[in-house]
Amino acid sequence: MFTTTATIDPAFVVADVPKRLFGSFVEHMGRCVYGGIFEPGHPEADVDGLRLDVLKLTRELGVSMIRYPGGNFVSGYRWEDGVGPVAERASRLDLAWRSVEPNTFGLNEFMGWAQNAGIEPMMAVNLGTRGIEDACNLLEYTNFRGGTRYSDLRIAHGVPDPYGIRLWCLGNEMDGPWQLGQKSATEYGRLAAETGKAMRLIDPSIELVACGSSNEDMPTFGAWEAQVLDEAYDVVDYVSLHAYFGQKGGDRVGFLGSAERMDRFIEGVIATADHIGAKRRSRKKLKLAFDEWNLWHQQDDSAPPEWQVAPRLIEDEYTTEDAVVLGNLLMSLLRHGDRVDAACLAQLVNVIAPIRSEPGVPAWRQTIFHPFALTARYAQGQVLRVEPSGPALHSENEGDVAAVDVVATHDPETGDLTVIAVNRDDAQAGDLQLRLAGTDLVVEEHVVLGGTDLQATNTQAEPDRVTPRTSTDHVLDGTRLSVKLPPVSWTMIRLKRA
Ligand code: AHR
Repeated sequence: MFTTTATIDPAFVVADVPKRLFGSFVEHMGRCVYGGIFEPGHPEADVDGLRLDVLKLTRELGVSMIRYPGGNFVSGYRWEDGVGPVAERASRLDLAWRSVEPNTFGLNEFMGWAQNAGIEPMMAVNLGTRGIEDACNLLEYTNFRGGTRYSDLRIAHGVPDPYGIRLWCLGNEMDGPWQLGQKSATEYGRLAAETGKAMRLIDPSIELVACGSSNEDMPTFGAWEAQVLDEAYDVVDYVSLHAYFGQKGGDRVGFLGSAERMDRFIEGVIATADHIGAKRRSRKKLKLAFDEWNLWHQQDDSAPPEWQVAPRLIEDEYTTEDAVVLGNLLMSLLRHGDRVDAACLAQLVNVIAPIRSEPGVPAWRQTIFHPFALTARYAQGQVLRVEPSGPALHSENEGDVAAVDVVATHDPETGDLTVIAVNRDDAQAGDLQLRLAGTDLVVEEHVVLGGTDLQATNTQAEPDRVTPRTSTDHVLDGTRLSVKLPPVSWTMIRLKRA
């Protein structure tokens, strides 16, 4: 067993835990919408075809915000195709996923679903095949009170009050060669700035997200952000980041340490955004929207089945080990809560998702559901700065990776302290020795995910094979808390005032 030490002090505040950090993503892709949140005729669907079992799990997951309707899909989407009487809506080709989009679910169905779930929408506009005018029409439809063409159309569609959608993505992954209407950084930066400027004239209260690089491995990463922000810095509030992690070659340590890669990615984007801010002598600090993040293992390069409605696309089945890594990625987002103000676990249902559904049967929780749900529920109040000190592991691709990672949150109102720790070592348990600031705390709950059955999954037949288990493997002695961390495990320990 090895030892890692850290001090947890409520005085070392990074930021309030951002509410939008626990977002997710619903794209018209594969079976996320059709057969996911929406499946008329399913035994658990309501009169509108919304699956109540999926809705219930979404609430349990603790999702605060949902990005919609894409993703790559949005870059070819005409939002008008999905509003108005369903019988009058036409099917369309979805070129992003070479699928057929039936348009029986659209903006108003999504907004009804989100309102019902108590979730904030994050709406994306199409800056691939469309531009300023259509983005403005959409905003007029959603946010203008009435008396104009598109606001009256909304009212005619049975929605008298404006939705007041605050958060808007200016396109999606516009640097990607796979993206419909891909642009150079300068082209996109100009378009984002002009679209944002026009949208703000309709509704000055909106918040805007500019597309950063599609991922950190893009050859233009860094330069893309700098050029886009050279054009759009004054108009936008956020710059986006996307990352999907998986095991590269045989580098398991590198995979288990994915959160360190996420840390570096985030810090690189902060540095680039602040460089542009400094050049402009701006007092404004951009926020980061990590609006697509997850694990993505399937690498099937064969073309997906073409021109079907809701084909099965990237329905990854996640293991216990994946849940440990995912919980650790969320720790990386939390510790950057002073700049990462919004994040979306991509996606919500079926497509690389924490929730799985099949026709005719109840939906179930994938392994990765659990660390997300527990973190969303108990990481409350303020994120604290924690600097663990302990041994490192060696990764082929990533160099040294700390064996143990720790974050903590503190709620100043209740005094509740939540500590989350991950042991990435697959051979040894870790002894985490924490120095606390006071002696007035007791352990309320200690749960562990992992340590055993690392390749186990949750399936339709065995939906609860992998769940967090309660542990008593800790000793609290005055200000010293020692916690045993099993090999490859995620641990949450919650303390309350005595
Ligand atoms: O989430 C799946 C896809 O991954 C999204 O559509 C796209 O933005 C990203 O490349």
